[in-house]
Amino acid sequence: MSNITSLVVAFLFFFIAQSLLAAAVTYNVVTLGAKPDGTTDSSQAFLDAWTQACCSTAAATIYVPRGSFLLQNVTFQGPCTTNSAINIVIDGTLLAPADYRVIGNAGTWISFEQVDGVSIHGGILDGKGSALWACKAAGKSCPVGATSLSFWNSKNIGVTGLTSLNSQLFHIVINGCQNVKVQGVRITASRKSPNTDGIHVQLSSGVTILSTRIATGDDCVSVGPGTSNLWIQDVACGPGHGISIGSLGWDLEEEGVQNVTVKTVTFTGTQNGVRIKSWARPSNSFAKNILFQDAVMVNVQNPIVINQHYCPDNKSCPDQVSGVRVSDVTYQDIHGTSATEVAVKFDCSKEYPCSGIILEDVKLTYNSQPAEASCSNAGGTASGLVQPTSCL
Ligand SMILES: *[C@@H]1O[C@H](CO)[C@@H](O)[C@H](O)[C@H]1NC(C)=O
Ligand SMILES: *[C@@H]1O[C@H](CO)[C@@H](O)[C@H](O)[C@H]1NC(C)=O
Ligand SMILES: *[C@@H]1O[C@H](CO)[C@@H](O)[C@H](O)[C@H]1NC(C)=O
Repeated sequence: MSNITSLVVAFLFFFIAQSLLAAAVTYNVVTLGAKPDGTTDSSQAFLDAWTQACCSTAAATIYVPRGSFLLQNVTFQGPCTTNSAINIVIDGTLLAPADYRVIGNAGTWISFEQVDGVSIHGGILDGKGSALWACKAAGKSCPVGATSLSFWNSKNIGVTGLTSLNSQLFHIVINGCQNVKVQGVRITASRKSPNTDGIHVQLSSGVTILSTRIATGDDCVSVGPGTSNLWIQDVACGPGHGISIGSLGWDLEEEGVQNVTVKTVTFTGTQNGVRIKSWARPSNSFAKNILFQDAVMVNVQNPIVINQHYCPDNKSCPDQVSGVRVSDVTYQDIHGTSATEVAVKFDCSKEYPCSGIILEDVKLTYNSQPAEASCSNAGGTASGLVQPTSCL
């Protein structure tokens, strides 16, 4: 190359790099009309920011400054025209309408559908759920409620440093997704709030939940059918119902759950610790290759439990037998205190007994005494110190 040609090439590179940098864009919701006053409906400004970010040819950021923004139910719909990442940076609080009826039948409050490469950083979501919980507790006729944050049929999703308060229904739902990372999230609702699961995952693969604190009235994390390659680590649960795989096996034809790791989790005052639960109904579903490792139980009612006879009010379970095959479940290094005498309970299906259950270094006490274990239709092995004495 001649000197002149190299100069031209260098200049061209410089020019292209400059224009790419310049093309990275930020959409501030306030510039687009959102009001940080907590009372003006800002839904349209958020939807406009999304539409523009979604059409952007370069990486786009949606910025939500400090302040409280009232939002009705909003859906951020993909697919977007380019495959550039969209970052949503939230310094403020998003408020659900005070009247729960406004979003109570919408299913979801803030949802993302068919998106690829969206990450949310920071922010507080306030679902304002307490009036709806009170309506339900009073046995009145109430809307079912909306999930606060959900991702449907999406991939390459990140949620970091977000706080979710008082959802009407579930706090976060991941449904039909691949490659989702939730990190440094805090979820809080009353211990008496109904169906306020912290994070629900189903029909999804490659979901990771790290360094998260969940206090609710229902499951800390619930794992539905069709979940694989789920990794949960450094999570604190309580109050609430603990980590639950299931309920599985409601449907005859149902995708199973496999390759789930739950590691370094603390349960404090929860109803369950690590649970696998299936309906007492015919089904082809399964749960296999599950590892529960390094868990601490503090005053947990059912620290280790498999329940294959789930059937509230004995309705819709003709033979009281679950078809769900539970196999290769390992409990390793699980310590702490049980709030009831039976700390380990394997209540499996008589038609499809649980197999390949491994207990290794488990020590659970009740009132400073060794707790008890109870098994039906469960097979496997125990090694290391196992207390209560294994009944496998
Ligand atoms: C909000 O939910 C209602 C159903 O309750 C629906 O008709 C409406 O389209 C939703 N609004 C948005 C912006 O998604
Ligand atoms: C199990 O899931 C983890 C992620 O949670 C993944 O890294 C690993 O490759 C998976 N194993 C199999 C056999 O699919
Ligand atoms: C449900 O049925 C089973 C046996 O069919 C019985 O042992 C159990 O007590 C019943 N439970 C309720 C809540 O009715």
